[in-house]
Amino acid sequence: MAKIMNNKSWDDLAADYDKSVEDNQSPLVINYLKEEIEILKNLCEKHSRLNKNFSVIDMGAGTGRVVFALDEKLRDDSIDFLGIENSDLMLKYANQKNKLRSGFSKTSFLKHDLTDTNLSQNFDLKNANVVMCTYNTLGVVPSDKRQSFIDNMKIIAGKNGMVILTMFNGDDFGFVAPKMYHSMIPMIKKIDDDSFDEENRVFHNSLGFRSQWFTKNEINSLLDSTLDPLPINVIIGDTPKTFGNVFVHNVA
Ligand SMILES: C[S@@+](CC[C@H](N)C(=O)[O-])C[C@H]1O[C@@H](n2cnc3c(N)ncnc32)[C@H](O)[C@@H]1O
Repeated sequence: MAKIMNNKSWDDLAADYDKSVEDNQSPLVINYLKEEIEILKNLCEKHSRLNKNFSVIDMGAGTGRVVFALDEKLRDDSIDFLGIENSDLMLKYANQKNKLRSGFSKTSFLKHDLTDTNLSQNFDLKNANVVMCTYNTLGVVPSDKRQSFIDNMKIIAGKNGMVILTMFNGDDFGFVAPKMYHSMIPMIKKIDDDSFDEENRVFHNSLGFRSQWFTKNEINSLLDSTLDPLPINVIIGDTPKTFGNVFVHNVA
């Protein structure tokens, strides 16, 4: 039986995480991440035209990819950047990278379980934060904890805040998932004959890695939203294909 992913398992993946994500050499992943960060940057800029002194909070920050990229692109001293993680090793790598950056002092990382129903008590709540969660992280959260994860995002965002979820495109799982995971071998380590469960839109392997993919409608229902997401398109051959979606929910 497949192992359930827990904190220990993410610790096991931490050393190879960057090889599969931000340092991945596949043009597909490079273009996907570039497009995603551009969309996130534009959303933060739009938010900062209406709100001042807010925090950008990344839920499941891994080794800090999104926090660092947005800090470097936005270069706005009035914004604090905070990454939340519960894997000690992911946090260790994120903090090591943070120390090596010069001139950026507004980025920090904290250890919390994002599904904890009392999570918001740990935050100095501002009323217009941008709370994001990227790279299909919601898909690794156990199904009975997903709604509290989303509720935490909304509470921490505050009454004028913005919640952003970047998810792989579950409406095209059969095409997109093999392309994504074949390029992420350093981290996932193994693809088995039955790794792609198209019926349930789940990628899993015999080492215990499991990630659920969702349709647009499923995410909108969790967010209680009806807005169309912003597509993350990647060119395959000459054709743009939607590999992920950025869902935006304004709390107000
Ligand atoms: C797919 S990685 C995403 C990393 C990063 N956001 C990125 O886009 O590169 C998912 C991360 O979420 C973290 N995570 C999963 N469940 C969590 C939870 N309940 N509380 C805190 N972090 C969690 C894992 O440790 C892992 O680092």
